[in-house]
Amino acid sequence: MSADNISDATKHFVDLRRHMWMAGIEVDLRRLIWQIAVTGKYISAKIHESNRKLAGLKNIYNEEQLALDRSSDTILRIQLEHSGFVREYASEELAETIKVGQGDEKYFVTADPLDGSSLVDTNLAIGTIIGIHRNHVPARGRDTMAAALYITYGPLITFVYSAGKGTHEFVLNREGEYVLSEENIMLKERGSIYSLGGLRRDWTEAHTRYIEFLEREGYKLRYSGGFVPDINQVLIKRGGVFTYPALKNNPRGKLRLNFELQPMAFLIEQAGGKATDGLRDILDIPADSLDQRNPVYIGSRFEIEKAREFLAAGTE
Ligand code: AHG
Ligand code: MN
Ligand code: MN
Repeated sequence: MSADNISDATKHFVDLRRHMWMAGIEVDLRRLIWQIAVTGKYISAKIHESNRKLAGLKNIYNEEQLALDRSSDTILRIQLEHSGFVREYASEELAETIKVGQGDEKYFVTADPLDGSSLVDTNLAIGTIIGIHRNHVPARGRDTMAAALYITYGPLITFVYSAGKGTHEFVLNREGEYVLSEENIMLKERGSIYSLGGLRRDWTEAHTRYIEFLEREGYKLRYSGGFVPDINQVLIKRGGVFTYPALKNNPRGKLRLNFELQPMAFLIEQAGGKATDGLRDILDIPADSLDQRNPVYIGSRFEIEKAREFLAAGTE
């Protein structure tokens, strides 16, 4: 069945594996994506053990790790070690890239194993973010990315992936199957929600003027404090903007280029949206180190173009 026939098939039950096959995604890539989807179930099982304690250790960003940050990372690493498709694994929780294959595998994986650690104790939605590259990381996303995906652990577990042929959402059902729920998600030119990271008192003047513009235009605030659910909201509501900007005392912002921004930029671009640091597309930013951070404006086209305009005016 060709990619053109997917929509016909959605009238019936389509699970993730069948969808990737029908979309004509290369066999190794779809097997890897499937393995990661299964790994999401193991991470979800770990979350349900309800250990919400700190691990007593810090990651390379000097952030306190939860026991869950570490176990999610370990689960992913162990699964990828046996996948047969992954040469190297880079994770937000590890200081350096580690070899997980024999050296001749096709893919290089980046992971934010557990996004939204600060929301675990309050029982808000959390997630996992994955980038799949064809070459070593760190790298400029547009040069190396083959696919990206995220998983949300909320009232439902959802799985959103793109392998360069649109962005699609699946819901994990009670039988443990990932069932297609939203195919070829396309953002509208302009949305109506905004999601704001960083403290207002630390914003730059240009960023403040941009946010005031959105507020005059009647945008509604929707911010959970978790990148995965916040991006998921923009995607599923078909538009709006998420930003974690450059701050006065922290011009690089907070979010991590390799682990968080590149995969989300890939997914949002595939859904017809845009992602920028204010100047460059996120996928065009050279990545010099694994722990690199960059500011981000991501969402539907109108809001991202406006962000570029306001930030450019601010530097004149
Ligand atoms: P992580 O839990 O992987 O460390 O990521 C946290 C990120 C992201 O989820 C969110 O958008 C942002 O940090 C929120 O930061 P603050 O809590 O500092 O506002
Ligand atoms: Mn994160
Ligand atoms: Mn994390």
